[in-house]
Amino acid sequence: MKNFQYYNPVRIVFGEGQIKKLSDLVPKEAKVLITYGGGSAERTGTLDEVKTALAANGNRSVFEFGGIEPNPEFTTLLKAADMVNKHGIDFLLAVGGGSVIDGSKFVALVSSLTEDDSTVLRDKAWDALLSGCSTIDTAIDLGVVLTIPATGSEMNNGGVVNHSERQAKLPFRSPLTFPKFSILDPTKTLTLPKRQVMNGVADAFVHVIEQYLTYPVNAKVQDAFAESLLKILVEEGAAVKADPENLETRQNIMWSATMALNGLIGAGVPQDWTTHMIGHELTSLHGIDHARTLTILLPSVMRELKDSKKDKLLQYARNVWALDSKTDTKQDDDSIIETAIVKTENFFRSLGLPVSLADAQLDESAIDPIIKQLEAHNMVKLGEHGNNDLAVSRRILERSL
Ligand code: NZQ
Ligand code: ZN
Repeated sequence: MKNFQYYNPVRIVFGEGQIKKLSDLVPKEAKVLITYGGGSAERTGTLDEVKTALAANGNRSVFEFGGIEPNPEFTTLLKAADMVNKHGIDFLLAVGGGSVIDGSKFVALVSSLTEDDSTVLRDKAWDALLSGCSTIDTAIDLGVVLTIPATGSEMNNGGVVNHSERQAKLPFRSPLTFPKFSILDPTKTLTLPKRQVMNGVADAFVHVIEQYLTYPVNAKVQDAFAESLLKILVEEGAAVKADPENLETRQNIMWSATMALNGLIGAGVPQDWTTHMIGHELTSLHGIDHARTLTILLPSVMRELKDSKKDKLLQYARNVWALDSKTDTKQDDDSIIETAIVKTENFFRSLGLPVSLADAQLDESAIDPIIKQLEAHNMVKLGEHGNNDLAVSRRILERSL
């Protein structure tokens, strides 16, 4: 195992009816800006529930900023940051999924980037994003009401922001953007469209894979947690498809997705975020949902990198899919690995998710522009060994056709 520090200060408040706890969790004199997405929070009544809780106990001023898009847009977020400065907001409350939470983390950071008239400076904010926001040393406090289990953003300090005009979707991270708390009420996920439920299961699955499928470092705790999460997601993916109203299934999906990317299983182990980094380019060029970019690419990443990942792929086959070359004399290592990859594809397909570029109506003409964008964003040394250059990414994309 590698040396590591593990720090996660996010208070999780889990369960049905917990939104009312906002009355204790948000400072009583705060000037709060509630941030939300394209309307689901209003439609489902969650926004009203949040406002009622904030009014219940204390003397808060409450403002609202709606319209944060899936794959949150840089220009929209700057408008929210201007609102923060205009009203002297000192607490952001994100009500939504990864897009609203990530967007709010970015707002929390960039609202400090002003000069005289308190308007956030676009160039400065863009430069900050290019450097992953590492240059910003102050941020507004943030709380979360999670409405879609998928990204883990509710319990980590990272985010991803999209800039459509520049065709760039870029990650950032800051020690200042851990939420103060996140409320996880699984009943809130019952209003999700099926597509978003399945996207969430797949995104969480791939988060686990990217912290697991590298090379062994004898990290038994991390590996066993990771394998359990993968098995639970496979099981609960099928369960939610068969019985979408089952609250226990929703509870398990919600907590699995949070645990998948809160730093715990990634501590002390090598990681490989190749699938995510190529996936971001697919979203920014073609508007494909984040999780769907991952299910398109992951099988090809596994096949292309199967030699360098051989030990972990065999472990994955054995511990997640119950395949074993030692006991199955008919299959050698290569065919065991291929069977595990096919099982992974079938799992994604069973959730209605694409597993090839063709499934997303793309052909080989899509590849050159993706490679160009990877180069422009300096994604030229991906993977646990930094060996995945543009030629490897091209081969991954070709395998995905
Ligand atoms: O916008 P509204 O109207 O709210 O609708 C949303 C949106 O259309 C809808 N929705 C959310 N909760 C709902 C609901 N509809 C009905 N009932 C509810 N309870 O779902 C749609 C998708 O929402 P979004 O927030 O975009 O989904 P998700 O949580 O999958 O977030 C995706 C974003 O997170 C980033 C992705 O790149 C993408 O931009 N990621 C963030 C990460 C992180 N911070 O650690 C890691 C991930 O790998 C990922 O990159
Ligand atoms: Zn993801």
